[in-house]
Amino acid sequence: MSAAALPPIREIRPKVLFQLIESMAPDVNPSFSVNIPSSAIGGATLLENAVLVSLAKLTGARAFFEFGTYLGATTLLLASNSPADAHVTTVDLPPADIDMAQPAPDEADLVLRDDTANDNFLRREFAHKGGLCIERASADIQAKVTRLLQDTRTIDPAAQGLAGRFDFIFIDGGHDFDTIASDTAIALQLAQPDAVIAWHDYRSTIHQDVTRFLDGYAAPARLVYVQNTMIAFMLTGRFANLLPD
Ligand SMILES: C[S@@+](CC[C@H](N)C(=O)[O-])C[C@H]1O[C@@H](n2cnc3c(N)ncnc32)[C@H](O)[C@@H]1O
Repeated sequence: MSAAALPPIREIRPKVLFQLIESMAPDVNPSFSVNIPSSAIGGATLLENAVLVSLAKLTGARAFFEFGTYLGATTLLLASNSPADAHVTTVDLPPADIDMAQPAPDEADLVLRDDTANDNFLRREFAHKGGLCIERASADIQAKVTRLLQDTRTIDPAAQGLAGRFDFIFIDGGHDFDTIASDTAIALQLAQPDAVIAWHDYRSTIHQDVTRFLDGYAAPARLVYVQNTMIAFMLTGRFANLLPD
């Protein structure tokens, strides 16, 4: 299907999700647990955290898969705000495979402007710091997390026993077009029939390939963008009609 024939990505305000959360349990204060946002480049914002947790709670997600662990902030968020029997599998590159070459001093500011320089910076940061938010978490939270070290583009869901197992998938690894396309195709294999698949960096001014990919993607369910965030998502199977029209 050509991009011109695709339905436009639906835009919603974050409060569409928050209203659904309120209607799920009208007698309680809806709350979630979150770290003070990291000052590091590359993390999700507080509003994005609230959106991700709302999507997880609205769908009762229990089996999470994250492309791109980085410091583990979103891994920790999902593990901390899900039922005790939920589990988060998160994948990042084997540190030994990461190119540690630093940009030339006169190119250092490229990290905040250029897609490739930014992705290379995030990879080096991961190699230096690993998933430190997970390592600092309590033992019960750590027990809810499985960490894989693998290039996401090489994941073979069937061979690795991961096919059809996950009901919440967060795509936030490499941001170049080919990696986003590959991670998305693999996410569809990882997903249960009823699932949330979410992408980070939609409409990012740095990672414009995410926007280019999703704007031209013939998704199996309607794509939704949450305003004032960089999160786009789709709800499949029985969740397809969860949002009001
Ligand atoms: C934006 S950060 C992830 C942020 C994290 N999801 C969070 O919300 O805190 C992107 C991560 O993807 C990893 N990454 C980049 N390309 C990858 C690839 N091909 N396979 C696996 N991980 C990759 C980087 O090493 C980096 O840690």
